[in-house]
Amino acid sequence: MTIQEIKKKALKEIGDSQNLKQLNGIFQKYLGKTGEINSILKSFKEQSLAQRKIVGQEINLCKNFLKKKIAQQEEELKEEMLARQLKDQSLDVAHLGVKIKKGHLHPLTKVLNEIEEVFKGMGFSIIEGPEIETEHYNFDALNIPLDHPARDVWDTFWLSNKKLLRTHTSPAQVHYMEKHNPPFRIIVPGRCFRHEATDSSHDIQFHQLEGLMVGEKVSISNFKAVIEELFSTLLGEKVKTRIRPSYFPFTEPSFEIDIKRNHSSEWLEIMGAGMVHQNVFKEVGYLPQKWQGFAFGIGIDRLAMIKYNIEDVRLFYNGDLRFIHQF
Ligand code: PHE
Repeated sequence: MTIQEIKKKALKEIGDSQNLKQLNGIFQKYLGKTGEINSILKSFKEQSLAQRKIVGQEINLCKNFLKKKIAQQEEELKEEMLARQLKDQSLDVAHLGVKIKKGHLHPLTKVLNEIEEVFKGMGFSIIEGPEIETEHYNFDALNIPLDHPARDVWDTFWLSNKKLLRTHTSPAQVHYMEKHNPPFRIIVPGRCFRHEATDSSHDIQFHQLEGLMVGEKVSISNFKAVIEELFSTLLGEKVKTRIRPSYFPFTEPSFEIDIKRNHSSEWLEIMGAGMVHQNVFKEVGYLPQKWQGFAFGIGIDRLAMIKYNIEDVRLFYNGDLRFIHQF
């Protein structure tokens, strides 16, 4: 084969090559140490020096030419490869993003947060109490001895070693007063439990918010002002309140608070309250007759039901997303 023939053949192969590996093979085949061009060189060994010079020049020219062509082809193949890669993993910068689904607060948490804001504005501190209680804190210290009929109203879940799940947040009053002296004002939000059959307005668990304000001259009218402020802010309208006589062993006098919204003719029972019984003060070691104050327990579930027009309290706890997503 003449040099020109080899060159033609090589050129075609270079042009046809599909990838770098093939191209490298072509390089070795023609330009490698034992490649076709070098073997031609050998076959001219016998010829005269002048002749060899001419052929040598020709061969060198051919070698350089092919090297250049191979380098060009290499560039092209690399570009093609890159273009193909970009196409495969194409990124459309104009494509709309996928919105991340964000959760939101439970309606009970929302209402609770709002209530806490109102009380903070009136100088109340937010305190917590344990959900697992002893009989002493849940009953005895609140003036409800073992044989008291009120115990039946607050039947609960008993744990081992005589512990129980608190039936109201009132035991937190006792915990707090044992460690702090008046004057003070606190609220204690938290989960409570009762052992009872469920219906649309009762569940075995619910949330209560205890309030307690004690000082030398804290009165029922202070209480009325506080709750009127609470309900008006929370429901966004001037709410009528009604104080009705009632009975709780740990308050004297005791009352039930009803509210009436503007658009409604119905009074809704919303909380129990009263002036703290002196026996409770005695229990926590306060000087008898020196202090007076009011206490109340608001049903947070009840309030959320009123605020959001919810008819069944059990919806708050059954985890049905169709319900939750509405808030
Ligand atoms: N603890 C009472 C209940 O659960 C409510 C209450 C709290 C009443 C504080 C008076 C004072 O029914």
